[in-house]
Amino acid sequence: MINISEAAESLRARLPSVPRVAVVLGSGLGHIADEVEDATVVPFKEIPGFIHSGVKGHDGRFVAGRLQGGGEVLFQAGRYHVYEGHPLDVVVAPVRVLAALGVDVLILTNAAGGIDGVLGPGDLVLLDDHINMMFRSPLIGPVKPGEVRFPDMSCPYDPELQALAMEVAESLGIPLSRGTYAAVTGPSYETAAEVKMLANMGANVVGMSTVPEVLVGRAAGLRCMGFSMVTNKGTGLGSEPIGHNEVMQVGRTVGARLGLVLAGLIGALDGASQSVGTK
Ligand code: HPA
Repeated sequence: MINISEAAESLRARLPSVPRVAVVLGSGLGHIADEVEDATVVPFKEIPGFIHSGVKGHDGRFVAGRLQGGGEVLFQAGRYHVYEGHPLDVVVAPVRVLAALGVDVLILTNAAGGIDGVLGPGDLVLLDDHINMMFRSPLIGPVKPGEVRFPDMSCPYDPELQALAMEVAESLGIPLSRGTYAAVTGPSYETAAEVKMLANMGANVVGMSTVPEVLVGRAAGLRCMGFSMVTNKGTGLGSEPIGHNEVMQVGRTVGARLGLVLAGLIGALDGASQSVGTK
C-alpha cells in the first residue's frame, strides 16, 4: 500500500512550486513532457512506494515546468495499468498524490482504438463521458482523506474545460471531436464482436486506462478532462491487426498536435485562473 501523504511530501519537496494543472501522458505520449522549459524531473522510482512501471513507453516520471504559451504544468509521464497486474490503489496512487499536492485540474490522455467507424489513426478525441467496462472501482473500500463516498458522475469531464479545449483546438486549426471512452482492462485488444458491442453501447473510443483515475479525481474534487489519441481502428473496422508498436508509433508522430492543444489550453487556464480555475 503506497503511503500517499509521504509520496506527496517527497514530490512537493522536489518541486519549485505546485502547478494548478496536472497532465497524465499515456502510451507513446511521454515525449510531450520534453517540451517543458525549466523542467524539474522526478522519476517514479525516487518517490517512496512508487514501483518501476515496466511497460515499454511508460517511463514513469513527473516533470514540472512551463509550456510554450507560459502555462505552468506538472506532467505525469507514464502510469500504472490494471493489465500489468497492479491493484487499483496502485493504478490511482499518482492521481491521489496529485490531489494531495493541491492541483485542481487533472488532464488525462491516452492512446485508444476508434470504435465508431469514423475515427482512425491520428484523430484526437476530447472525452465527454465514459463507460467503465473494467467493472471495478478504485473507490471501493474505506473513503480516502479528501474524497467523497458517492461522487456524482453526471459530468465526469468538466463541461467548461471541454468548451475551452474546443476553442483552443479550433484556434490552432487542429481537428478535435468529442466522444465517450470505454475503459477495458486489456491486455488483449478487443474482439470484433466486443467492438460492435461497445459501439452499440454508445462508446466512440476504447482504451485500457483513464477511468480509474477520473473516478478518483472526481471523488477528490478535481476538475477532470480527457483526451484520446486514436492509434488504430478497433478490431474488425480496419484491415491491419493491432499491435503495441503501431500504438507507440502513432503516439510519437501525432502527439505533437496534442501537445499544441495542451499548451494552448494550459496557457489559457493560467491566464484565466480567476474565472476558470475555481473548483
Ligand atoms: N483497444 C484498447 N486499447 C487500445 C487500443 C484498442 O484498440 N488502441 C490503443 N489502446
